[in-house]
Amino acid sequence: MKTKYAIFFICIVALVIIEKESNILSRVSDKLIQRQTPLQTPQTPLDYSNMTQNGSLTVLKMLLSKLAGAAGNYSSLSEEEEEEQDDDDDDSLEESGERGSSGGRKHILLLATTRTGSSFVGEFFNQHGENMFYLFEPLWHVERMLTTVADTNNGTVLAGIYRDVIQGLFLCDFSPLEKFISPPPQDHVTPSLFRRESSISLCDEPVCTPVVKDVFERYHCKTRRCGPLNLTLASESCRAKQHHAIKTVRVRQLETLQPLVEDPHLDVRVIQLVRDPRAILASRMVAFSSKYQTWKTWAQGGQVPEDDEEVKRLKGNCDHIRMSAEVGLSRPRWLRNRYMLVRYEDIARYPMQKAEEMYRFTGIPFSPQAREWILKNTQTTQEASGIYSTQKNSSEQAEKWRFSIPFTLAQVVQRVCGPTMELFGYKLVTDEKTLTNKSVSLLEERRFQ
Ligand SMILES: *[C@@H]1O[C@H](CO)[C@@H](O)[C@H](O)[C@H]1NC(C)=O
Ligand SMILES: *[C@@H]1O[C@H](CO)[C@@H](O)[C@H](O)[C@H]1NC(C)=O
Ligand SMILES: *[C@@H]1O[C@H](CO)[C@@H](O)[C@H](O)[C@H]1NC(C)=O
Ligand SMILES: *[C@@H]1O[C@H](CO)[C@@H](O)[C@H](O)[C@H]1NC(C)=O
Ligand SMILES: *[C@@H]1O[C@H](CO)[C@@H](O)[C@H](O)[C@H]1NC(C)=O
Repeated sequence: MKTKYAIFFICIVALVIIEKESNILSRVSDKLIQRQTPLQTPQTPLDYSNMTQNGSLTVLKMLLSKLAGAAGNYSSLSEEEEEEQDDDDDDSLEESGERGSSGGRKHILLLATTRTGSSFVGEFFNQHGENMFYLFEPLWHVERMLTTVADTNNGTVLAGIYRDVIQGLFLCDFSPLEKFISPPPQDHVTPSLFRRESSISLCDEPVCTPVVKDVFERYHCKTRRCGPLNLTLASESCRAKQHHAIKTVRVRQLETLQPLVEDPHLDVRVIQLVRDPRAILASRMVAFSSKYQTWKTWAQGGQVPEDDEEVKRLKGNCDHIRMSAEVGLSRPRWLRNRYMLVRYEDIARYPMQKAEEMYRFTGIPFSPQAREWILKNTQTTQEASGIYSTQKNSSEQAEKWRFSIPFTLAQVVQRVCGPTMELFGYKLVTDEKTLTNKSVSLLEERRFQ
């Protein structure tokens, strides 16, 4: 009963707040309606058609659920049994890290930035076996839709929406995500889920439905031909699997996740993956060549202006990563035993050992399948077949950047990312010779727990 009143009260408060934000709201919803109406002729009487017909309602609901936090309108949440929340200071309970109502499920969130080997580390969990439901960058859809709308291209708003979409997905509720998939799914079926093939559970039975026509040619999963993705089936498959993992490069600040980590229906473990920022820059200059044109010009010997936007962006990225890690490493109560920092370089040197540590941290048994995958993919001599390839000789790859980044750019990174590098144990170099001398390690041995 108390809960009902609380929810009612929160909704009232939320409505008042939303009233204030109605400017943003109406402009966002206009954008959404513009996007959705030409693509969508509503045909079904399902709640889904309501949702797309009325963009403002969708956004209103979304913001409502955001503001109402865990008391929001996730259907799966209300179906679960309410359990008393233990509010006392029992450390032994905290230490065990168990959550009463998650039913032994673990929810792993792999946080990274691009070019830190997160696809590779994501595979450690994707390959776990049939008890794992893994999603690769679901927030891609949210970012794509919202950052084009100026009013929602706001870190605070975006972070809240990211958190809610993750929360939905951890509860096997795809509806918060569905609102951001474009074109909008028809009857919860979409051919457009970003990198579906990177998720084994989305390409396996029973989520892989037979291809009806060859029109669906481009919806194939890597290993088999599947029809467009039925999100209802995906949700059912998710519920049937014991553990859930999501990899994302889009969450910038760890503290924005506090309500998610504290959700009593979830048992969240956050793994933050970091890498030497000099290596990240070198790798991005290759992978995102056109975006990094400015850096490439500087690499040709141009002077790097102190206050250039690119340099500021680099500094901003480094600062966000460091601040998130500082929150995690300071072991606040809400994150205790739920946060792990992992360096890409350590995974590259000791993949099996690090994978074991990560599994131990999550409380999920390290499966023979995962072990086998790691063995196969860290010992291969085969050259990388593409920039997103995870089949690389990892220890060799981890050092390659030292020969591709010009010393002057390494210096720029060291200047703006110094505190971040210091925190993670990446040694600065003072001359080009040291940078390219393979017998000099740029890595300090560190333990982060
Ligand atoms: C859409 O929702 C708004 C309130 O959010 C309402 O005022 C409007 O009448 C609705 N439009 C349609 C077409 O249902
Ligand atoms: C982002 O939105 C929040 C809440 O609406 C607001 O307080 C903040 O000033 C905005 N930030 C920027 C940079 O616009
Ligand atoms: C998607 O899967 C659900 C659950 O099996 C099913 O009821 C529904 O008809 C499917 N949707 C389509 C469009 O095939
Ligand atoms: C991977 O690279 C390292 C460093 O160059 C080398 O010592 C090792 O033999 C390579 N492993 C394989 C299987 O090629
Ligand atoms: C590389 O570093 C090692 C160890 O500091 C040093 O002995 C060696 O002379 C260096 N090599 C070059 C080419 O500078």
